[in-house]
Amino acid sequence: MTRHATQPIEGQKPGTSGLRKKTRVFMQPGYLENFVQSIFDGIGGASGKTFVLGGDGRFFNAKAIQTILKMAAANGAARVIVGQDGLLSTPAASHLIRLNGTDGGIILSASHNPGGPDEDFGIKFNTPNGGPAPEGVTNAIFARTQTIDGYQKLDAPDVDLGALGETSVGEMAVTVVDPVEDYEALMASIFDFDAIRAMIAGGFTISFDAMHAVTGPYAAKILEGTLGAPAGSVVNGTPSPDFGGGHPDPNPVWARALMDRMMGEDAPDFGAASDGDGDRNMIVGRNCYVSPSDSLAVLAANATPVPAYAKGLAGVARSMPTSAAADRVAERLGIGLYETPTGWKFFGNLLDAGKVTICGEESAGTGSDHVREKDGLWAVLFWLNLLAARKLSVAEVMADHWATYGRNYYTRLDFEAVPTEAAAALMDGVRDRLGDLPGQSFGDLTVESADEFSYHDPVDGSESHGQGLRIWYEGGARAVLRTSGTGTEGATIRCYLEAYDAETLDDPAKLDPVRTATMELAGFRTHIGRTEPDVTT
Ligand code: G1P
Ligand code: ZN
Repeated sequence: MTRHATQPIEGQKPGTSGLRKKTRVFMQPGYLENFVQSIFDGIGGASGKTFVLGGDGRFFNAKAIQTILKMAAANGAARVIVGQDGLLSTPAASHLIRLNGTDGGIILSASHNPGGPDEDFGIKFNTPNGGPAPEGVTNAIFARTQTIDGYQKLDAPDVDLGALGETSVGEMAVTVVDPVEDYEALMASIFDFDAIRAMIAGGFTISFDAMHAVTGPYAAKILEGTLGAPAGSVVNGTPSPDFGGGHPDPNPVWARALMDRMMGEDAPDFGAASDGDGDRNMIVGRNCYVSPSDSLAVLAANATPVPAYAKGLAGVARSMPTSAAADRVAERLGIGLYETPTGWKFFGNLLDAGKVTICGEESAGTGSDHVREKDGLWAVLFWLNLLAARKLSVAEVMADHWATYGRNYYTRLDFEAVPTEAAAALMDGVRDRLGDLPGQSFGDLTVESADEFSYHDPVDGSESHGQGLRIWYEGGARAVLRTSGTGTEGATIRCYLEAYDAETLDDPAKLDPVRTATMELAGFRTHIGRTEPDVTT
């Protein structure tokens, strides 16, 4: 074993989903090593422990895995369970952590960000419950990055990650597992696979776009294999280190090809896509895009046909910027609705405590208590299960849902690569005026109330402040402003707009007044010189 002297590296503070940087930053000598050693030190050492390890297959994934295996061995870990070829979707990794009762896991991914030598890489630690490390743990890891003076790494040959089964690195056992097998068994235990299989056998058609990312093998095995969808139902199904040069983000912008197909003449009955590491999802029917906020509401309203949720849901949680569509369902069902800060980690305590069964974010993340991550394929299978049970098209399900609950029109505007000071000035400008805004008019709307979101965790009592600026206008429209914790260049300002209507169910222009008012209120033109976002979802 070799102890390598090192020193603290600037900027290794993990954000909402671990540490994300340009790949070349991670490839600098000692950079990955410093953070991995800080993980081991931050959790009280690796000695005698068992971990899960895998990633989304992006550039540098395999190399980083070899490094981490040698470091885990040098730090005295007993065993590492690693996905074949270094692949594990984030939800599958979460499941393996729980299934094997491990001491946690290390997941390599920058989620939906592009991959490649000039793109992004990321690493995060998940705790034994299978979920992203809570702030206490990420703070301890970060604190260690500030004082670190050495890391341990075994001088050992690389492990053959292609060969399933038992091997070792020094004294440490390494188990190379099929990334799909246990995950598929979990899905089969949740959903009515027979009903879905029968629907597909009856001619129901699917297009699942894996976006050249990690869900390809999962979708091919489950949808085309077990559930009998014809070959070709999964497209872009082979994981590639740069995601085919694309942006593996399942939304109407980056999954344009799927959107065009679903809006075209020969659209299949059901379209879906997932992101780089398989935790996000996009659902789209023939001529009918389902917003993630609506998807969460629909899943909540249609849970009982799914065998695992047949007894009903304990409660529903959504991130604060997510629309209130799910709130209306929870209210009708008489179950709890929890509003959390952005980031999956805030759902963990609620799931562990049994307060909620399903949760979701406007950013295309939905999941349940089956793992402690959002889960893209799970959402796809949930939709297939509910369509099989209700025997309706996606568009009919949505029309019925809005007729029952009214519609929460919703959109998110992303302003990317904004100079950090300009973004801060815009946000501070709103924050400083929060108390004065009520009663003031912008465009056609008048502000009713405004605040900055703070979260009090009902399970562990922890407080999280500064989680987004909220503005409610008279008439019920809402705007939220926050800066991204996952962007890798300058600052990304996210502006979330919502307007509720119980009668007019098909008029996206309902959002225009809240958009105009919010651009003016926050001074987008003054501070950043534009009111047109880079990405609208
Ligand atoms: C974004 C999403 C957030 C999600 C996170 C990780 O974070 O908005 O909902 O949990 O990615 O996938 P943000 O960049 O907004 O901080
Ligand atoms: Zn992701």
